[in-house]
Amino acid sequence: MAFLADALSRVKPSATIAVSQKARELKAKGRDVIGLGAGEPDFDTPDNVKQAAIEAINRGETKYTPVSGIPQLREAIAKKFKRENNLDYTAAQTIVGTGGKQILFNAFMATLNAGDEVIIPAPYWVSYPEMVALCGGTPVIVSATQENNFKLQPADLEKAITDKTKWFIFNSPSNPSGAAYSYDELKALTDVLVKYPHVWVLTDDMYEHLTFGDFKFVTPVEVEPTLYDRTLTMNGVSKAYAMTGWRIGYAAGPLELIKAMDMIQGQQTSGASSIAQWAAVEALNGPQDFVAKNKAIFEGRRDLVVSMLNQAKGISCPNPEGAFYVYPSCKGLIGKTAPSGKVIETDEDFVTELLETEGVAVVHGSAFGLGPNFRISYATSEDLLEEACRRIQRFCNNCK
Ligand SMILES: Cc1ncc(COP(=O)(O)O)c(C=O)c1O
Repeated sequence: MAFLADALSRVKPSATIAVSQKARELKAKGRDVIGLGAGEPDFDTPDNVKQAAIEAINRGETKYTPVSGIPQLREAIAKKFKRENNLDYTAAQTIVGTGGKQILFNAFMATLNAGDEVIIPAPYWVSYPEMVALCGGTPVIVSATQENNFKLQPADLEKAITDKTKWFIFNSPSNPSGAAYSYDELKALTDVLVKYPHVWVLTDDMYEHLTFGDFKFVTPVEVEPTLYDRTLTMNGVSKAYAMTGWRIGYAAGPLELIKAMDMIQGQQTSGASSIAQWAAVEALNGPQDFVAKNKAIFEGRRDLVVSMLNQAKGISCPNPEGAFYVYPSCKGLIGKTAPSGKVIETDEDFVTELLETEGVAVVHGSAFGLGPNFRISYATSEDLLEEACRRIQRFCNNCK
């Protein structure tokens, strides 16, 4: 009898964590490495949020909380959905988890039976297919293309829907591509979804606040209110408020689903950290100027990175609408010989050679289900980004 569960054979370790680990190891050996693999803002959590946590500790808010979250945070979440997305949810229809990750996992855990299919557009965030598989479901990957700016086409969504489809996962702005769907682009997808009432929508709005220029963020229920009864709208404070380590994510949706997720969480972690929940109340209810300031900084970095990458021989980099990632193609380098003498056959070869030769750590596109591409996280200083892009240009020039 095997000791480890069969479910483990269905999952892979996270490629993004593996890249960060490799970069750390090279650094520890004294190599000059620029890490562009991590998916977290390089800013500090705003002071008012930190202060709210300190005050919560001093008030003694250090005990177990209700499983779905403290009432003050669930009220703040309901208000956020009304204020920013024009969605009507009561506090009872919301749930707070230990990061958006827990929300997603528990939504799958609460709903998936063996054979249930979950449609995941590629390129996708690495955890979606793995979570679906761990929970016994079947990931159905539907590819977008770089020509369509990595956006899923409605006909391809429709082709992927079967009687077994339980969820469609939507993520805009996207990790890893940074692509964000406009109102019309999203409406074209929701027009397909309204025809299939058995398909639920899980929208991961984690990067909502990071869109650039005059792009206007939209979420599925806002665009198609009839999806309200079969959509879970997920969000969190990690990316918008530079709070990745606080581990607070949240969602709103139909009461029956929220109750099922509450039951699972009650036998799992119970409520999220009491202190972090009070910090999240301040993040959602307090001043929002931090968000706009950081968005402007990210936009400047995106412009720099896109422009420099498009000057690298063999690289083509679309200009994404949001998040803090770019997802350039390295197709022009496939078949070339790297300075080490190795022939680059895949995007994984490309990122490995780039790291070994120039000390720049990025993540290969095949880890996100679409290549040959690679993901750069530009959540680091302009100086470092400029230096990293110069090294990428040099590496590409030296591939023959
Ligand atoms: C698309 C997407 N969804 C969800 C998450 C999870 O965020 P957290 O668990 O930090 O709230 C991440 C984090 O990288 C992400 O990129």
